[in-house]
Amino acid sequence: MSTENFDAVDIIRIKRDRGTLTPEQIDWTIDAYTRGVIAEEQMAALNMAILLNGMDRAEISRWTTAMIDSGERMDFSSLRTPGGAVKPTADKHSTGGVGDKITLPLAPLVAVFGVAVPQLSGRGLGHTGGTLDKLEAIPGWQASLSNAAMMEQLADCGAVICAAGSGLAPADKKLYALRDVTGTVEAIPLIASSIMSKKIAEGTGALVLDVKVGSGAFMKNEDDARELARTMVGLGTDAGVKTVALLTNMQTPLGRTAGNAIEVEESVEVLAGGGPADVVELTVKLAEEMLAGAGIHDADPAAALADGRAMDVWNRMISAQGGDPAAPLPVARESETVYAQADGVLAELDALSVGVAAWRLGAGRARREDQVQAGAGVRMHAKPGDVVRRGQPLMTLLTDTPDRFARALEALDGATTITAEGSRSGQRLILDRIAE
Ligand code: URA
Repeated sequence: MSTENFDAVDIIRIKRDRGTLTPEQIDWTIDAYTRGVIAEEQMAALNMAILLNGMDRAEISRWTTAMIDSGERMDFSSLRTPGGAVKPTADKHSTGGVGDKITLPLAPLVAVFGVAVPQLSGRGLGHTGGTLDKLEAIPGWQASLSNAAMMEQLADCGAVICAAGSGLAPADKKLYALRDVTGTVEAIPLIASSIMSKKIAEGTGALVLDVKVGSGAFMKNEDDARELARTMVGLGTDAGVKTVALLTNMQTPLGRTAGNAIEVEESVEVLAGGGPADVVELTVKLAEEMLAGAGIHDADPAAALADGRAMDVWNRMISAQGGDPAAPLPVARESETVYAQADGVLAELDALSVGVAAWRLGAGRARREDQVQAGAGVRMHAKPGDVVRRGQPLMTLLTDTPDRFARALEALDGATTITAEGSRSGQRLILDRIAE
């Protein structure tokens, strides 16, 4: 005889018929699925009912809490300022984009101001790059740290970027793998609870969400991105985390590189006070938001990039994880150039196409177990708004395996639009800010 409190089929029927689940039903669902009592096909049916019929704020909040409670919570309250007070913590999460290397300069930049930045990051899957894959291009750098090593590094350098341990929200890992193969990744309640369960379990005091909008992002239009942002800000706020979201443009890649080593190189340029204007703008804006969330309103992050303070923290952060910040980065063995076909203004450079090209060149992986190439990717020599001349190089494709060029070039077919008198102003980067 079953000793379970509920029946999976009843739970599925409630969401199928647009009903509302009680807190007890939600707690049981996540726990029973984690224990294997709810079968994969039953959870798949429930996910699809949630995708089609949604969840209200109380349901999403309870679903998130249940996922957090499936694993451990981290606690940074032992970190202290020189004066003995509890050190503030802040983190950033991006919903993923092409050329999005912002975490690399951002974490050390925020740490300059005495805020601890525990940045638990992931690997890339599909066309969006993963922060850990990028950092692993640095000779010697290690992504996996024990909780104790992470705390030690936070105390010493103020910032750590490392892999999330398997103890954080294990229910989400199982659920995400199922959503991935059942066409249910795109459900806003499920995306929001997945991201926020990990961020809340991580124990940060302030959180800034960079919700990407456009062809290279999960959310292709601004309305969906705004709803996702509002839902996540609500979940963070309900959990006592100071949370704000920026909606940012992912119609075109960020910066002038999409890959691994080449994105590290560009991040180091930003840390040296240079780098592309869009990467600098977003890094500084997100730093200001993280610092404000941590209670610091008078900091000048742009100055800390320009005068080398952020670079000092970067060097210490990379060295602490076994990396050599001065070592030459891997370079791809082969390259191929894409040229402009006309004179005019580059009106469009499509993020999804560039992301898929970089992925096909070997910068990303198709299956979790695939290896990435450190040197692979796409260098962009012009961005929207730039004047270009026929025959001028627009992009350089990089890979160790030249048989990949044909498929990458296919992905770039139609990726650029050159107009005779296009707007030279480029595209707006920061579209909105959402807070409660
Ligand atoms: N990232 C996550 O961690 N979860 C999702 O559901 C989508 C993106």
